[in-house]
Amino acid sequence: MSICFQKVTQTFGSKIVLKEVSFEVPKGKILFILGKSGVGKSVTLKLIVGMLKASSGQVLVDGQDVMQLQDEGLAQVRRKCGMVFQYPALLDSLTLYENLSFGLRPFCTPNPGTILMSEAEIRKTVLEKLSLVHLGPEILELFPHQISYGMQKRISLARTLAPEPHYLLFDEPTTGLDPITTQAVNDLIFDLSRKLKVTSIVVSHDMACALQIADQILVLDEAQIIAQGTVDEIKQSSVPLVQEFLKETLALFPLEENRSSTHDPSP
Ligand SMILES: Nc1ncnc2c1ncn2[C@@H]1O[C@H](COP(=O)(O)OP(=O)(O)O)[C@@H](O)[C@H]1O
Ligand SMILES: [Mg+2]
Repeated sequence: MSICFQKVTQTFGSKIVLKEVSFEVPKGKILFILGKSGVGKSVTLKLIVGMLKASSGQVLVDGQDVMQLQDEGLAQVRRKCGMVFQYPALLDSLTLYENLSFGLRPFCTPNPGTILMSEAEIRKTVLEKLSLVHLGPEILELFPHQISYGMQKRISLARTLAPEPHYLLFDEPTTGLDPITTQAVNDLIFDLSRKLKVTSIVVSHDMACALQIADQILVLDEAQIIAQGTVDEIKQSSVPLVQEFLKETLALFPLEENRSSTHDPSP
């Protein structure tokens, strides 16, 4: 089971953002949803976690229609789906350890008081997730403003990983980053997907990143999916907007090879 959109339409007043959009996220793989600004990428992620209710159609998470769920059902879906926002959104007045352990505290668990982790278990989980993003315990007592922006992004990712979500939803993970940090974040998404076998959806307008690590790419334009396929299939696409995206990417990275040709694609 996975995440599945069935004829999902999303309108805001007279504006149609998604029109009968259907797709399924391949389990354990990385799906990139590409599109220009304002096309409905963030809306797509918000529909998955029930932050928005579609005008029609079904959004299924592990077979459950998110739109039919009430409080407890929705809370379960949100626990399964770790959302990684564009900005790290760390709490400035808390140390990195406090930020990382926040979601594991009793007040964040479904029924406060029922799932209690000891401080030692919380610390163990925090250290484990920190090492997944290639950071060490020496930074835990620092505050967010004392580390670089790239490190803040890693911490934010580690925080999302702490409750061990089944799905990782990334909203523009590399927008506004310098090329080195972009590469590092992209590498991390790839490594986590393969190591944890977590199903990932990355919404982005960064075709270069998609070509490097996506298992599937889906391109949205004017409320619909205009192209869909593997990296190789997208590279062959004759759809004008896809060609435009590809041209921009090639102009920036003329010699770049996509990772799927150099890495074993099986998890
Ligand atoms: N809650 C909302 N109410 C009204 N309009 C919205 C709402 N959320 C998103 N929109 C509109 O839907 C369109 C798609 O938004 P969004 O998914 O945020 O775009 P992007 O692809 O840049 O992430 C935009 O035109 C935006 O203004
Ligand atoms: Mg957005």
